[in-house]
Amino acid sequence: MTSRVCVVTGAGRGIGRAAAIHLSGQGHRVALVARTESELVSTAAECPGETLVLPTDVTRPDSAGEILDTIAEKWGLTQILVAAAGRNRSAKLDETTDSHWQSMLDLNLTSVFQWLRAALPPMAANGWGRAIVVSSIAGKRGFKHLSAYAAAKHGVIGLVRSAALELAHTGVTVNAVCPAYVDTELTERTIESIVAQAGWTRADALHHVNSLQPIGRMISTNEVVQALSALIDNAGMTGQSIHVDGGLVHG
Ligand SMILES: NC(=O)c1ccc[n+]([C@@H]2O[C@H](COP(=O)([O-])OP(=O)(O)OC[C@H]3O[C@@H](n4cnc5c(N)ncnc54)[C@H](OP(=O)(O)O)[C@@H]3O)[C@@H](O)[C@H]2O)c1
Repeated sequence: MTSRVCVVTGAGRGIGRAAAIHLSGQGHRVALVARTESELVSTAAECPGETLVLPTDVTRPDSAGEILDTIAEKWGLTQILVAAAGRNRSAKLDETTDSHWQSMLDLNLTSVFQWLRAALPPMAANGWGRAIVVSSIAGKRGFKHLSAYAAAKHGVIGLVRSAALELAHTGVTVNAVCPAYVDTELTERTIESIVAQAGWTRADALHHVNSLQPIGRMISTNEVVQALSALIDNAGMTGQSIHVDGGLVHG
């Protein structure tokens, strides 16, 4: 297998961490991005191959250019981008403040746009590249109390589809994966928030989260990574948004 230069945002925990460890295990060099350096160091310790620990806040408009320049100095052109940094926050529509709305768009949509805008043209000039954005099943259907997050996750799929078409003739593919509830800290915070807001027991909140997926359980990070890995391997798939949701959404 060809060894590629990869960058994974959100690599400190959850899906991004699992993706980084997988890519490293495949023989690729992986740059790890998130805000919390200690978590990136912990991910790096699990990676069998070469890594770069590059803490940054991806919502800083210059973050993508700076990180890609640093990677270029050390390893050369970034060939695979996994954009997994993200966060959800719930509120009823009439309690969603402008700052809540903006923060969901800044992280889950605008930052991805800025990273794709910086990463894709050099990949295209080089004739090969892969970008995979972690959207959500909340990018494919609505959920109560998630208007801002769902709007951002729907938006990022439009971004992926359009970028994929622009680059379709260049050897670069751009795709999204759309998980339902994944067994990560983000979901743990969702469960805590259901307990706090709805007054349910933790067991009831966990049952609710598990039963959203028709398979009756959460998705594992490994299952998301398998979808992501298939998108990296398959040059014929671009502009897609692949559900990893235990059968929740069809079509
Ligand atoms: N878990 C789910 O059920 C689920 C379902 C569908 C979609 N998703 C999506 O999957 C992605 C990963 O979620 P996860 O469950 O793995 O979450 P997680 O366990 O909370 O990990 C999120 C990662 O993103 C990083 N991050 C957050 N804000 C950042 C920022 N401003 N700048 C740089 N890094 C940032 C976090 O590190 P720092 O906080 O240290 O920056 C962390 O490394 C997100 O886009 C999420 O929306 C998750």
